[in-house]
Amino acid sequence: MKIHSQTATQEVEFSEKDRESLYKTIFNRRDVRGQFLPDPIPHDKIARVLQAAHHAPSVGFMQPWNFVLVQSEAVRKRIHRAFMDANEEAARMFEEGKQSTYRSLKLEGILESPMNICVTCDRSRCGPVVLGRTHIKTVDLYSTVCAVQNLWLAARAEGLGVGWVSIIRQEALHDILNIPEDIVPIAYLCIGKVSHFNAAPDLQTAGWRERLPLEDLVYFDGWQQQERDQHQSLTDQIRAHSGWVDGHRLVDGW
Ligand SMILES: Cc1cc2nc3c(=O)[nH]c(=O)nc-3n(C[C@H](O)[C@H](O)[C@H](O)COP(=O)(O)O)c2cc1C
Repeated sequence: MKIHSQTATQEVEFSEKDRESLYKTIFNRRDVRGQFLPDPIPHDKIARVLQAAHHAPSVGFMQPWNFVLVQSEAVRKRIHRAFMDANEEAARMFEEGKQSTYRSLKLEGILESPMNICVTCDRSRCGPVVLGRTHIKTVDLYSTVCAVQNLWLAARAEGLGVGWVSIIRQEALHDILNIPEDIVPIAYLCIGKVSHFNAAPDLQTAGWRERLPLEDLVYFDGWQQQERDQHQSLTDQIRAHSGWVDGHRLVDGW
């Protein structure tokens, strides 16, 4: 596959098929924990996925990210231990009725996946004053999350699963991966080939939480303004597309 990173003009058009491929990727992306295979990941796939991450938007074109690729089993074992410690703390934070369900959930694939990636944010990459970060100081962190999402979607298109592990103390990541104090670990990701992708989020299948209806989350011209009769056509379309997203059409139709 050839990647065209530079075109003189913006004459790129998207066909119906291209659009379908994009939505297919978005709606069939999953957070993968339990389906990783130990097979090595082809290097060309990793390179493309990282390149996709590196083409995320970033405030002031800051590109504040780094990608720490973790393949060493010894290092992954230390990370896994840090996860286990945090996960025990996490379990005790839930009310008693929910603790046993929480403990039954698989929430990481650190050792089963052949590679982990820690995505970090260097907040001082462009000096103290950054175009676009003058008033909302956290936008460099958001930029890094955009890179994570690009990586996640590109991986899905490459047939690779990704799982985000956030149940870990940031200090543990600093310590184990030698990340300097002023660099923020944003995401710890597990990546690899998978036996299969589940059709729905694991947390939904486990009965932890359902997807919210999009129409309830959309307001018009101000917070909590939902005068749907004034916006009937758009509201109808949002409703009409709700089954389209989580549903069978994507899996069966595409
Ligand atoms: C910021 C962030 C942190 C997450 N942390 C974890 C985690 O620690 N363990 C886990 O199993 N899933 C984690 N997830 C995955 C979510 O549980 C998952 O995205 C959600 O349940 C929806 O499922 P889907 O990604 O398969 O659509 C995280 C996702 C995000 C965006």
